[in-house]
Amino acid sequence: MARIPVYEPFLGGNVSAYVNECLTTGWISSRGAFISRFENAFAEYVGAEQATSVANGTVALHLALEALGIGAGDEVIVPSFTYVASINTILQTGAKPVYVDSLPDTLQVDPHAIRNAITPKTRAVMAVHLYGHPCDMDAIPALCRENDLLLIEDCAEGFGTRWKGQHVGRFGDAATFSFFGNKTITTGEGGMVLARSADVMDRCRRLKSQGVSLDREYWHDMLAYNYRMTNIQAAIGLAQLEIADSLLGQKKIIAQSYKQALAGLPLQTHEPIGPVDHSFWMCSLLVDDPTQRDPLRRHLAENEIETRPFFSPAHLMPHCRADITLPIAENISARGINLPSYPGLTPEQLERICDAVASFFRSNLR
Ligand SMILES: Cc1ncc(COP(=O)(O)O)c(C=O)c1O
Repeated sequence: MARIPVYEPFLGGNVSAYVNECLTTGWISSRGAFISRFENAFAEYVGAEQATSVANGTVALHLALEALGIGAGDEVIVPSFTYVASINTILQTGAKPVYVDSLPDTLQVDPHAIRNAITPKTRAVMAVHLYGHPCDMDAIPALCRENDLLLIEDCAEGFGTRWKGQHVGRFGDAATFSFFGNKTITTGEGGMVLARSADVMDRCRRLKSQGVSLDREYWHDMLAYNYRMTNIQAAIGLAQLEIADSLLGQKKIIAQSYKQALAGLPLQTHEPIGPVDHSFWMCSLLVDDPTQRDPLRRHLAENEIETRPFFSPAHLMPHCRADITLPIAENISARGINLPSYPGLTPEQLERICDAVASFFRSNLR
């Protein structure tokens, strides 16, 4: 029985041709034509004016926070139920993450919890669009405007995700994406930053490249980083972007198959709620009874089906612990499983996965 992984990138289209072009022309580092081609094509795809590429989605977040001037003494409101990079990058700036709870159906940050967490020290909100579903992009930007707070969108998991037809990343003061190998479009490792203001965008470009002066060679006038993407990564990214709509379409079909085949079992699938386009970065299910989550994962593993548990809430992790209880985050984290979600999954593989989930519940109900 062949093992079914949670994810595998689809590297068709022009990937090989573009990468070979980098190799044959020698443009393998962070200069070369593919960088601006990928940045421009990405900006156009999401409807932004500009985008700047970086080495991965974590440094994208750090760069965005730094470019917005967030640092020591600031509080940043963030869902505890997120991937740890959202939290680590806030801590790396010297700011304090203030954890809030999430919503049980969309799995996204709860706007009411954000409102209740605002203090005089609050500088920003980080909205994380998790597993391909958007956060409430009416309520959260409105809250930020009313309270004069910056909004950062962590769209690492939100490529192809839309709120009222508008791509995520267009609502905040800055937004970031990840192109890790398991993302809907990948560059191996890679990321992208968008910013609303041209000044913030300029700061991102300078900060990611050692703060080099624009008019004097090897003159650096700010503490900065090397967070640049390579031309090879950008070549892969451009080829991925060319087939993005078909990858997203395929993932939607897969999510629909899971929804139909798993209906009636003691679980919920992660469905779109509200005026949204769910991009199904991950197809997820939440078992009704949290004690069944790990046994179900073991049963699937015995059937050569790889799954992932949902993220653990950050407020429970040793290096960023907070002595609070966030009941929804803790509950969904304990009940959630990401299923195989890559666009190349065949109908036969999907049937095998759904049969294995159903057989687990059949044998447990007996
Ligand atoms: C929500 C979220 N933020 C940030 C990141 C960091 O991206 P990267 O792994 O490219 O550094 C990820 C990665 O999966 C993520 O899921």
